[in-house]
Amino acid sequence: MNKHIGILTAGGDSPGLNSAIRGIGKSAISTNKMQIIGFRDGFRGLMENRSMRLDGEVLASILTRGGTILGTSRDKPHKMPVGSEVMDMTEVICDNYHRHNLDALICIGGGGTQKNAYRLAKKGLNIITLPKTIDNDVAMTDVTFGFDTAMEIATDAIDRLHSTAHSHHRIIVVEIMGHNAGWLALGAGIAGGADVILIPEIPYDVASISNAIRRRQLRGTNFSIVAVAEGALNKKDSKKLAKLRARKLKAKQAKDKKARVQVEAELAAFAKETANNTQRLAKELEENTGLEARLTILGHVQRGGTPTATDRVLATRLGSACVEFVEREEYGIMVAACGEGVKAVPLRDVVGKRKTVPVDHPWIVSARRVNTCLGD
Ligand code: F6P
Repeated sequence: MNKHIGILTAGGDSPGLNSAIRGIGKSAISTNKMQIIGFRDGFRGLMENRSMRLDGEVLASILTRGGTILGTSRDKPHKMPVGSEVMDMTEVICDNYHRHNLDALICIGGGGTQKNAYRLAKKGLNIITLPKTIDNDVAMTDVTFGFDTAMEIATDAIDRLHSTAHSHHRIIVVEIMGHNAGWLALGAGIAGGADVILIPEIPYDVASISNAIRRRQLRGTNFSIVAVAEGALNKKDSKKLAKLRARKLKAKQAKDKKARVQVEAELAAFAKETANNTQRLAKELEENTGLEARLTILGHVQRGGTPTATDRVLATRLGSACVEFVEREEYGIMVAACGEGVKAVPLRDVVGKRKTVPVDHPWIVSARRVNTCLGD
C-alpha cells in the first residue's frame, strides 16, 4: 500500500534544508511505496492547504541550493496570525493532514518546530522531525544541519576582518548569530583565531576584556578581534535575565497568568534595553583601550547560500534515515545525529530543552589554552 508523506520546513531557514528535502524525497521514491507532498511556508501552508508535489524532477536540482524550496515561516499551529487575530489553528491543521490522506508528516526545524510538531503528535498525527538550525541548540542531537555552513561563513568573515583590523590598528567587534547559545560564535571564534570570544553561557566583564586587549598592546599588537554571540551579556545583565527567567518559570508552574504577563513584559523590555549591547561594548572597549573600535554585525548572511559538504552529508543522512522510520511506522520522534549514525529520540525528550555550550566543553578548554579571552 502506498504511503503519503508530507514535508514542511519551519522556523528560520538554514543551509542544508533542500539537501534534507532531497534526502527524504529520493529515498521515499526509491521505495516505490511512498508519495511525497511538500507544504509551503511551514505550518501555515498545511493550515492553508498550500502544497507542491515533490517529484524526481523537482528533487534533482536542489542538493546544493541554499534556503528551502518549500519556503518557511515561524507561525505556530496554536498561535497563528489570521487576519487581525491570532488563532489556534491546530484542528484545521489536523483536518488538512487527514484530508491529504497523510500517513506521516515530517517537520524540519529547530527548537520551536520540535515543540510545535510535538503538539501535533499529541493530537494523534504521525510526526517525525529533523533537527536544523544554524544555532546548533537543539537538544538530544550531536549537531544540527546549517550549523557547519554558518560557522564557515562567520569564520571567513573573521579572517577578512583580521587584515583590516591589523592595517588600521583597530578593535573589530563582530556579532555572530546563535540566539541564546554560543556554539556559532565559539566555533567561528576559535577557527578564525579571535582574540576575545563572548558567549551567553559565560557572562562577561568589560574590564577583563579591556585588560586582555591592553596586554596585547603591551606586547606590541595593536589590533584585536572580538567575536560576540548575539546573546552574550555582561555579568549584571546576565544576572537580571536569570532572575526574570526564574520568575517566568515560577509563574508558569503556578499557572499565575497575571504574574506571567507581567514578567513577559519585563522580559520584552529587557530585550529592547540590551538590543544594542554589542555596539555599547565596542564603545566601552574603545574608551578603555584608546584603540579605535568598529562593529560588524554578520546577521542573515550567516543563513544564506550553498551548504557546506558537511551539512549536505548530514542532511542527506538524516533525511534518508527518516524514511526508514516511516517504513517502520515509528513516529513521535526526532531523527538525531549520533556519531556517524542516527538515532530516534522521542519528541517528549527533545522539547522544552535547549543545548547550550557547557562551560567545561572541550572547545572552551582549547580556547582558554590558546589564551583566548572569554570575557570572564
Ligand atoms: O535561529 C536562527 C536565527 O538565525 C538566530 O540565530 C537568530 O537569533 C534568529 O534566527 C533571527 O531570526 P529572524 O530571521 O526571524 O530575524
